[in-house]
Amino acid sequence: MSRETDRFGNGVLENLKIPDADVFAYHQELKALALSLGLTHLEFVRLGTLTSSDLEEYFGNASKTCNLLDGPLAQTVDLEENERHATTSMPHINDTEAFKPSIFKQRKSMIRLSIHESNNVGKITLDLFPPSTNPDFLTPWHGAVAVLADASVRIIDASAVDMAKFEVITNHAGRPWLLREKSDLFDWGGMELDFEPLFPCGMLIRARAGCGPYKFENVNMSRVRQLALSTAPLLLRGFTMQVEKEVFRNKARELGNIQTWPFGDILEVRENANLSVMNVLTREAMPFHYDGCFKTVEDEKTGGWIPTPPLFQMFRNYVASQTKGGLTLFASSRNLIPLLGPDTVPLEELRRLKWKTFTTDKEAFGSTQLLRPFITPHPETGVDTFRFHEPWPESKCAPGSGVIVHVMVQPQAKGNAISQSLTRLMYDRRVAYRHHWKEGDFIFNDNAMTHHTRTAFENGHREHWRVHVN
Ligand SMILES: [Fe+2]
Repeated sequence: MSRETDRFGNGVLENLKIPDADVFAYHQELKALALSLGLTHLEFVRLGTLTSSDLEEYFGNASKTCNLLDGPLAQTVDLEENERHATTSMPHINDTEAFKPSIFKQRKSMIRLSIHESNNVGKITLDLFPPSTNPDFLTPWHGAVAVLADASVRIIDASAVDMAKFEVITNHAGRPWLLREKSDLFDWGGMELDFEPLFPCGMLIRARAGCGPYKFENVNMSRVRQLALSTAPLLLRGFTMQVEKEVFRNKARELGNIQTWPFGDILEVRENANLSVMNVLTREAMPFHYDGCFKTVEDEKTGGWIPTPPLFQMFRNYVASQTKGGLTLFASSRNLIPLLGPDTVPLEELRRLKWKTFTTDKEAFGSTQLLRPFITPHPETGVDTFRFHEPWPESKCAPGSGVIVHVMVQPQAKGNAISQSLTRLMYDRRVAYRHHWKEGDFIFNDNAMTHHTRTAFENGHREHWRVHVN
């Protein structure tokens, strides 16, 4: 790691041509960012960290530390060992490779994070972004996070951004945060809003700091519909609403056609022993599912039963006072399908397979045996979606809430293995967004693109209003 001096007399990291002042400021910002996000297990170990906390002291010590790394510490490097650890990093990175054994020796209990290219040899590769967002595998050095015109998130080549098409979006703290393609989707008629991508899927919309609160009654539902089809689940937080079912119902009608059930259109999702809709109205955990899986009509041509799932769920949280649990998980096909492969089952093989499912008769659905494909076209957009129901034996739930699921492949052991690996994938952190409800949250979820489930909860009250819309 060699250094030179810039025209102001400050040190410059020769390989990267970055002035010390910028390196120092960058490090300080990273630390502040980690602090603001509550990332307490993340520690930054670099030259400045070893020495100082202010700029003057940093300048004074940076040279000394570099000399130390170039001298005594570098002498302790076992070159043969280093050879074995060598990766396919870019040439200038190899300088820091030489110091790895020393760093590992000093920081035995830590995992070193690297943001350079990895071929999974000597490193464990972690995706920083969901697979659907970074199809070209750009490294963080070269990529910028961008929300495209259809609200999908992509990592794009930072050196080739057309700023006539994009704008820089600042976060709540007024800091540059991400790029966003200019689009009418983000124009909500006088409402000043932040559109924040959720990890690993979905988007949060709320009033900009110092603006709002805005009335839900004034929200343009055609914008909501477009956005919810691009990015599910769509979460609106901090919007006020007159707490009356007719107001909620009218907004649902602006979204689309309400799909009714024998119990009516709006379901009060809370503990309720008087209505039998599996374990929707209990405190216990639920399986990953999509709504309407067992709501069927008879196919006139074949005489078989086919499900009629609604396109959207529209939720309005009423109370979220449960002390522990009660999260809703949303697993998006956009993230799951790119992860299919030899470890689970390749997409093309899954296209040919079917799964069989059954649940006993309920007041509104059930009692028919269904044979379903895993991959079906989205009813609005036609793109591939993944469809499944997590197997849920009676041992896991209240009597009558179980769901039998079999993957139709021989031998049965292979079917069970596929079922388990697909279930694991739905819970994968790269696939499922975990939602902690806040009182008054609205969620618009594309039920065709996602599966959802609820974790068990203990004390307190948890209630949403839910309506299905096509
Ligand atoms: Fe559900």
